[in-house]
Amino acid sequence: MISYKELGLVNSRELFKEAIEGKYAIPAFNFNNMEQLQAIVSACVEESSPVILQVSSGARKYANQTILRYLAQGAVEYAKELGKNIPIVLHLDHGDTFELCKNCIEYGFSSVMIDGSHHAYDENVELTRKVVEYAHQYDVTVEGELGVLAGIEDDVVAEQHTYTRPEEVEDFVAKTGVDSLAISIGTSHGANKFKPEQCTRNADGVLVPPPLRFDILEAIEKRIPGFPIVLHGSSSVPQDLVKIINNNGGKLKDAIGIPEEELRHAAQSAVCKINIDSDGRLAMTAAIRENFILHPEWFDPRQYLGPARETLKQLYKHKVVHVLGSAGHA
Ligand code: G3H
Ligand code: 13P
Ligand code: ZN
Repeated sequence: MISYKELGLVNSRELFKEAIEGKYAIPAFNFNNMEQLQAIVSACVEESSPVILQVSSGARKYANQTILRYLAQGAVEYAKELGKNIPIVLHLDHGDTFELCKNCIEYGFSSVMIDGSHHAYDENVELTRKVVEYAHQYDVTVEGELGVLAGIEDDVVAEQHTYTRPEEVEDFVAKTGVDSLAISIGTSHGANKFKPEQCTRNADGVLVPPPLRFDILEAIEKRIPGFPIVLHGSSSVPQDLVKIINNNGGKLKDAIGIPEEELRHAAQSAVCKINIDSDGRLAMTAAIRENFILHPEWFDPRQYLGPARETLKQLYKHKVVHVLGSAGHA
């Protein structure tokens, strides 16, 4: 058992409190490799933003849990070396079993998500409560989820959103003791969040997706005032990146994300953690595809991963400054 405190990490409790009071959201960026981690840490240090490093169970399989833990420990030291000891949380994204959450806590995670949203309500309560009971012994914070996002969540595919039912949230929070709650108000995972036929076109011909259900968010906030809310599936799918990918051999069809204005609006509410993964994937892929076409003679991975890392860093800087508002709050 290694405590996250020994690694220099923090849990999310204090960060969420400050984010709600300060009307901004903490970025939760997923990572699977060194370049992604370097981009996240250098962007957040330069913009003085706290950050949540998210690891999915797929990321653990891909990169190895021991390597990921040392990468996170390296992130703390790297931030100091860059000149700012920003608060860093190591968070399990979409944990699906008690055993996985327990294992991550034993490996130095400071925060875990137990995603029981696909289970019946009572089972979700029971599973979440069990994880909270274990995690709190080690001062690890826990995120639960109510409502199901459309799209793919790990191996589970949901055709339709099941929006969070505001009438359930007080009971869920009270019975489980969770520290934060992920809700479903119209966001979804991946780069295809809406079908074109669900969207309208603005004066410039740009597709505008249906708005998020802020009415549900408000109803939830009324029932649990000041309680930390989390938004998953919050990539905006920048169309300039989609264009670069498709102009350089890619085939992304109908890639549509959540407009940045809506996330800016959400960040000023009790939403204090916003999850972004797909936009980072798009940024890296765009830079790599472009460089492969521009420099067919390159074969040293540093030649194309270096610029990809830089593109990613600029994306993260943009997010913390212009979307989440967490810049300057470390
Ligand atoms: O919510 C899912 C995250 O984007 C992680 O995706 O399971 O493919 O690593 P992944
Ligand atoms: P995106 O696919 O919109 O980036 O969402 C990521 C996420 O919610 C990770 O848990
Ligand atoms: Zn998610």
